[in-house]
Amino acid sequence: MFRRLSHALVEKNLILMGVLTLITVSIGGLVQIIPLFAVETTIERVDGIRPYTPLELMGRDIYVREGCYTCHSQMIRPFRDELERYGHYSLAAESLYDHPFQWGSKRTGPDLARVGGRYSDDWHAAHLRSPREVVPESVMPPYAFLDRRLDYRDIADHLRGQRAVGVPYTDAMIANARADLEAQARPDEDPSGFQGRYARARQGAFDGNGRDITEMDAVVAYLQMLGTLVTFSDVTPDRVRQQ
Ligand code: HEC
Repeated sequence: MFRRLSHALVEKNLILMGVLTLITVSIGGLVQIIPLFAVETTIERVDGIRPYTPLELMGRDIYVREGCYTCHSQMIRPFRDELERYGHYSLAAESLYDHPFQWGSKRTGPDLARVGGRYSDDWHAAHLRSPREVVPESVMPPYAFLDRRLDYRDIADHLRGQRAVGVPYTDAMIANARADLEAQARPDEDPSGFQGRYARARQGAFDGNGRDITEMDAVVAYLQMLGTLVTFSDVTPDRVRQQ
């Protein structure tokens, strides 16, 4: 009897119903939101993730500048067809130092989250210069102009900017930004300092020329590291080794 009465009361009183609805919805929201304040981060730490090298960072900037993300996503979803085509699904930690992230929502071309190491540097340079030379049916536009010189005069400031938004670049990384960028693109230079600062970073003549540093060097260096930082051989599909 009491129940029927109170229910009728709420249904007939718009303001009372509004207030009660608000309270109910707030409880639902708070249950979801409050625990997030208690955990330090919602992103699991994963071995191997490091900030981009200066050259990779410049390559990433060019990737964004040229709008590569309008045709390519960088997020492998946990579905069987995607795992078989691209490899292990993307982890949140793999985008930890991406400002902004490149997940994307459109795939005119394939996902690039794990493209690193899948092709040679020469393949990438040839493909970017003229996609149809290597993939005759490709609808990707040519980017031959990337063979122009890379302007990296402000690379140290760029690292500082990234640090301001939370990327853990050290003072040594910032002080050596120019030298590290040059060492990565010139295979005849001593890589020890640069590789000590950036684990698993590879030196290379990414555009095929080991002296001049071009935008092509930067983009290929970036593509070649995508998805290569985490070792998945000791990871089962559902569990990732945590630090
Ligand atoms: C208009 C859409 C479009 C744009 C813009 C575009 N791509 Fe592509 N891309 C494609 C398509 C389609 C393919 C598949 C055919 C091929 O390999 O060329 C592809 C393939 C690729 C591949 C080979 C991937 C694989 O797993 O085989 C790479 C690497 C790549 N693109 C990089 C880039 C980069 C870097 C940019 C920006 C400079 C870019 N793409 C811009 C459409 C695009």
